Amino acid sequence: MRIAILASGNGSNFEVIAQAIKEKKIPAELVLLFSDHRDAYVLERGEKFGVSCESFELKDFSDKQSYEAALLALLKKYQVELVVLAGYMRIIGKELLAAFPKRIVNIHPALLPNFPGLHGIKDAYEAGVKETGVTIHYVDSGVDTGPIIAQGKVKVAEEDDLADLEAKIHQLEHQLYPEVLAEIAKQNK
Ligand code: GRF
Repeated sequence: MRIAILASGNGSNFEVIAQAIKEKKIPAELVLLFSDHRDAYVLERGEKFGVSCESFELKDFSDKQSYEAALLALLKKYQVELVVLAGYMRIIGKELLAAFPKRIVNIHPALLPNFPGLHGIKDAYEAGVKETGVTIHYVDSGVDTGPIIAQGKVKVAEEDDLADLEAKIHQLEHQLYPEVLAEIAKQNK
């Protein structure tokens, strides 16, 4: 299965997925890393792994539709079969969704449907929940909606500050995302 990862920033999830593919724990080919920010650190990680890296920005285009059309053309050029969002901070538009039905997955740092949106970890922390977690789901036209594939839970300890909770969440993400992608890749071999 030919996988593309879309990421906007740091890329720690990209790195663990790329490593798992390299070690053949995920039976797939990582054919493309795309970032919508030319200076994103994830692109440096991509170079290190020898993955084809491509980048353009929304502001290079007259509107969001043309940006998405270019992204769709790129995914087609690389014959991508599964799109993996790993810290990609944009809503996926209609045409991309239609081109990849149940073929776009996302990771969200909270137990959806709780705490969707940009600040899942902070929102859960500030709400004072005793438990939060990580959700991996197929993408639909909503914000962090779409059928849930897997969830993992994290306990919020009395003494945890926000940074502690962030570290716990990221640790779980780095374990769960490669596991789930391995399952999807096995089912689509
Ligand atoms: C992760 O917390 C992910 O759940 C969210 O964005 C963050 C990306 O982190 N969607 P990184 O860029 O993979 O380090």
